Amino acid sequence: MHITVQKLPSEIRQNVDQVAVVVDVLRATTVIATALEHRASEVMTCVGIEEARQIAASLAEEPLLCGERFCQPIAGFDLGNSPRDYAPSVVQGRTLVMTTTNGTRAFAAARNATRILAGAFVNRSAVAAALRKESQVTVVCAGTDGEETEEDFLFAGALIARVLELQKGITLDPAAVEAVDGWQTFLSDGMSLAQKLGQSRGGRNLLLAGYLDDIEACANVDSIAAVPFVITRQPITLRVEPSPA
Ligand code: MLT
Repeated sequence: MHITVQKLPSEIRQNVDQVAVVVDVLRATTVIATALEHRASEVMTCVGIEEARQIAASLAEEPLLCGERFCQPIAGFDLGNSPRDYAPSVVQGRTLVMTTTNGTRAFAAARNATRILAGAFVNRSAVAAALRKESQVTVVCAGTDGEETEEDFLFAGALIARVLELQKGITLDPAAVEAVDGWQTFLSDGMSLAQKLGQSRGGRNLLLAGYLDDIEACANVDSIAAVPFVITRQPITLRVEPSPA
């Protein structure tokens, strides 16, 4: 397997035979993994607020409208972008239609990949295991407001480190090597993951908006077994990846 890392969705190469792991650990991919772990039926993602409303209106059964702008819930939507909003009692059996500032854009950018998964610290080992038969994997960092961001790149390193523990014969591009080095440096620093995430671009935004608890939830490594994967691309819709045989 060869693994590459794209620090921003705009860097992704189109129309190539690759698997994309889309990453927005604060908070979109953490929320998607949490919702599907809690038995939401599926998560439809889109870029715009109006688009989300239109998708919702086109569905036979009323979905939950979810997402954020400037980290805050969107007026008239059912749920914001806090993992704690997505309790089983709220999401079980429901379709979710989600739009976020960066995460859902990253899915749109990755839409031509052959297989698309959602990765976050909460499902890191499950995603690493789900990649075991792949030959070409790209980790697509969502970034924050069009800028590279440390939290997604740190996760890229954490994920690749786990893949390296599980499999032999992995090759890495220079950005993937840099990401793994960053993860190893973090591990040797002795700082908690929540603290580290709080220092990142996305983390600082969340702290300013009063979401310290969410950063802690997003730092709960391997707490979730769900591996969200894209089943349809119009709109981009995720369900749970079947467990490896
Ligand atoms: C995003 O997609 O931009 C985020 O997940 C930001 C947030 O959670 O507030």
